Amino acid sequence: MDATTADTVFRPAVPRRAGGPLPLLPFLWISWRDPIRMWSERHFTEPQLHGDSALGEIIVVSHPAGVRHVLTENAANYVKGDLQRRVLGPMLAEGLLLTEGDTWRRARRILAPLFTPAKMATLNARMAEVCHARVAAWSLSAHGRVLDIDSEMSGLTFDILSATMFSDELGGEARGFERALNQFLANGARIDPLDVLGAPDWAPRLGRLASARSARFFERRVTRLVEARRRRIEAGDAPPDDLLSALLMARDDNGGPGLSDEEVAANILTFILAGHETTARALGWTLYLLSRQPEYLARLRAEADAFDVFDPKWADGLPWTRAVLEETMRLFPPAPTMARKALAGDEIGGQAIKAGATVIISPWVLQRHTLLWDDPDAFRPERFLPENRKSIDRYAYIPFSAGPRVCIGAAFAMQEAMIALAGILRAAQIEPLTAVEHRPVHQITLRSRDTMRLRLRARRSA
Ligand code: HEM
Repeated sequence: MDATTADTVFRPAVPRRAGGPLPLLPFLWISWRDPIRMWSERHFTEPQLHGDSALGEIIVVSHPAGVRHVLTENAANYVKGDLQRRVLGPMLAEGLLLTEGDTWRRARRILAPLFTPAKMATLNARMAEVCHARVAAWSLSAHGRVLDIDSEMSGLTFDILSATMFSDELGGEARGFERALNQFLANGARIDPLDVLGAPDWAPRLGRLASARSARFFERRVTRLVEARRRRIEAGDAPPDDLLSALLMARDDNGGPGLSDEEVAANILTFILAGHETTARALGWTLYLLSRQPEYLARLRAEADAFDVFDPKWADGLPWTRAVLEETMRLFPPAPTMARKALAGDEIGGQAIKAGATVIISPWVLQRHTLLWDDPDAFRPERFLPENRKSIDRYAYIPFSAGPRVCIGAAFAMQEAMIALAGILRAAQIEPLTAVEHRPVHQITLRSRDTMRLRLRARRSA
């Protein structure tokens, strides 16, 4: 292999594209089952598409200038739509992901200090430790072991989140949370036809009834977590410097009350959901793609062997690891679609839109768009090596979004994913189990339709 090309190009399987705009019933069915199947060939070849749908006026924006306009330049005119709140709420409604205006600004101000580069630099060793413990628990041998990669990656990122953001106080609950989260994503967090049609909230949604148990589980665990930490704070113990303390001890600038109980609970759940599920999916897809491309695997393994988490410049030694992760999130963005509602009329890419219009920006579409990417469906990590990355428009690649609502955990996630990947590849050979290709399904995050199994074998040198 030369410096920029693998022997063969791998183009992972994707769902068949829709033939054109869908009539109402198929639209409702696909929205419920797997919204990425809604995209037609035209979405991947035209910069923007505008028209009327079951959601009313809708514009799909897939060109960098339009994305910049909506997410950054005129961000104040765009709010998260009701649909997102209905799909993810009521559990998350008061959390950072879904609130707007002053409530959002205050929570973001309170939480931002937890995600500074200086703060991140204090977390790398702990991240590596947690990863090491999980890899050790696999007890890999030279014969290899078949692992359910999705489940293992969820467990790993949950443990890292618990260790770093909750000072291990979620500890031991990874399996319970995973079960409840899977139930919530598979049943509750779907685009219900009644939500698309704007039915009132009291009308029962089937998915929500089916996920009531997971909602009760989350509620109980969060209450227990908050009560235990409150007792510690009230007893005068020095509380750990983490997310939970920041949420509970926050005070307004004018010394007024901090976050309400609903806001604290919703933010805990928001960070558990947004803070581990997405990174787990990024790692899962990465291991899958690497299992199909041994040339890249060899590059990453060489970097992993030389990796030293205690070196302050550790990230500089992992350019291929970063590039592979970024290319994976281009092809399989963990958060594949973002929706906004226009507060006032506006113009995007020369198209006038009315107040109330829905604006869709989809990393899934944008990052595979034929006008923006050469051979868009091919896995080619070289695109993201430092010398090439400069030519990628900031608004053509947005796995973490952009503008004021950019993912607060982006640096945390990249650091965690790089450290975890290096830790895994230092210890294990990754092999595909069968020639079966994994296809994505959109259930809030971009998951694998079938259980993702890979064989991990202990490396002789490990
Ligand atoms: C690979 C991993 C991740 C990806 C791809 C990702 C992606 C995103 C995206 C696209 C958004 C914007 C959503 C929208 O505007 O509709 C977002 C927001 C958010 N993310 Fe992440 N995320 C990741 C990891 C994390 C982590 C590790 C945390 C926390 C530790 C986190 C916490 C949040 C929060 C709280 C928001 C809402 C921010 C706001 O609106 O102010 N995410 N993320």
